[in-house]
Amino acid sequence: MARAKTAYVCSECGSSALQWFGSCPSCGAAGTLSETALDKPAQHRYAGKGVSSVSLNEIQTQDVQRSATGLDELDRALGGGLAPGQVILLGGDPGIGKSTLLLQAVAALPGALYVSGEESGEQVALRAKRLALAAHDVRLLAETQLERVLAALHEAAPRIAVIDSIQTMWTEALQSAPGSVAQVRECAAQLTRHAKRAGCALFMIGHVTKEGAIAGPRVLEHIVDTVLYFEGDPHSSFRLVRAVKNRFGAVNELGVFAMTDKGLKGVSNPSRLFLSRHEKPVAGSCVLATIEGTRPLLVEIQALVDSAHTPNPRRLAVGLEQNRLAMLLAVLHRHAGIATWEQDVFVNAVGGVRIGEPAADLAVCLAAVSSLSDRAISEKIIVFGEIGLAGEVRPAPRGQERLREAAKLGFEKAIVPRANQPKAKIAGLEVLTVERVDQAVQLLRDL
Ligand code: TYD
Ligand code: MG
Repeated sequence: MARAKTAYVCSECGSSALQWFGSCPSCGAAGTLSETALDKPAQHRYAGKGVSSVSLNEIQTQDVQRSATGLDELDRALGGGLAPGQVILLGGDPGIGKSTLLLQAVAALPGALYVSGEESGEQVALRAKRLALAAHDVRLLAETQLERVLAALHEAAPRIAVIDSIQTMWTEALQSAPGSVAQVRECAAQLTRHAKRAGCALFMIGHVTKEGAIAGPRVLEHIVDTVLYFEGDPHSSFRLVRAVKNRFGAVNELGVFAMTDKGLKGVSNPSRLFLSRHEKPVAGSCVLATIEGTRPLLVEIQALVDSAHTPNPRRLAVGLEQNRLAMLLAVLHRHAGIATWEQDVFVNAVGGVRIGEPAADLAVCLAAVSSLSDRAISEKIIVFGEIGLAGEVRPAPRGQERLREAAKLGFEKAIVPRANQPKAKIAGLEVLTVERVDQAVQLLRDL
């Protein structure tokens, strides 16, 4: 009897049906069924055929030979270059510069294949010309059909390949439209299998959906080795490449670029970017020394605290965690006697960076206090430290590096947790330590 080759699988509960339903017959969730290629049950064919496992010690390992791309900042985000067989998903908003980034990255490398499903060969060639890239060795394929792309990969056997983008690829095996979850997942899985078998480093470009996930509810993130997000404020020229998953290196590594008329240029000293230059100190601004991946970064945190005209005052955070802001305001009230329940509070991390680490707490609190009291914090002060619910200021990891970066950029004072007091003096930097949030607020008043 002929088997159906596909089934409709629910993304919530995983049950499958032979036809499409608006809601899952099993769990009732709406719109979760999507077409999926069925795996043939193959176990019985291999039973008793001597498929054996090996001891971990017996496996010969070699150091991964990483090859650099043409862009240092991209290598930094990748954890030091490309490993053979590494599969990387690059996500980002349309027009942010993903195609430009990867074209520049592979242009200098021998044996690269660029598969463009979105633009014609002519368009890609025009871009390469405009970027003045010496892309003699890059081969180009304008194609969206997976089987043909795989055939080209077999034939050309590139060391590095770019798929621009995974959403445009479609396979004959499925009936659903290109860009649907099923198509994207199946194409990505097949391309990944090829990359692993052939030892070819593979970049896949993925568009970000309105909700901010790379299309197909994170289905791709499990398949690939490395997930990079390319982000940045469309109104500014700065672009950040952030690793959020990496089987070959550290996560949260950050590569910083500036978009120019000649393409993307790496920015090797990014700290200055995230400090806005005021002519004189303004209230509500506080400089945070944060760590992004392995490197310290100084970022200006701004707060605006203004009387609310609604019964529910607004708490809004851009680039920082919203819930954490509400918690910090409660701590400020309870442990430092500063009430903001009749105030709207807005906070913002300058330059479009996103800061997830709790060591930003102290800077957020001090910026809010500064705005509320309308007293500027001297522009020569940097701050970091996590704040606990009991009002204590907890140490942040790698405090020394943060302090050294601040001293390097000409900061003169630092307000930091007691446990981050450096053992040796840092030239040019006076370090003030605090144990509780009210001490930090008091210190600001006295400065
Ligand atoms: P692109 O790489 O096509 O974005 P994506 O692939 O993410 O959709 O980049 C498009 C934008 O980049 C476009 O708005 C123009 C800008 N750009 C420059 O500013 N300078 C350049 O040299 C290039 C090639 C693009
Ligand atoms: Mg593009």
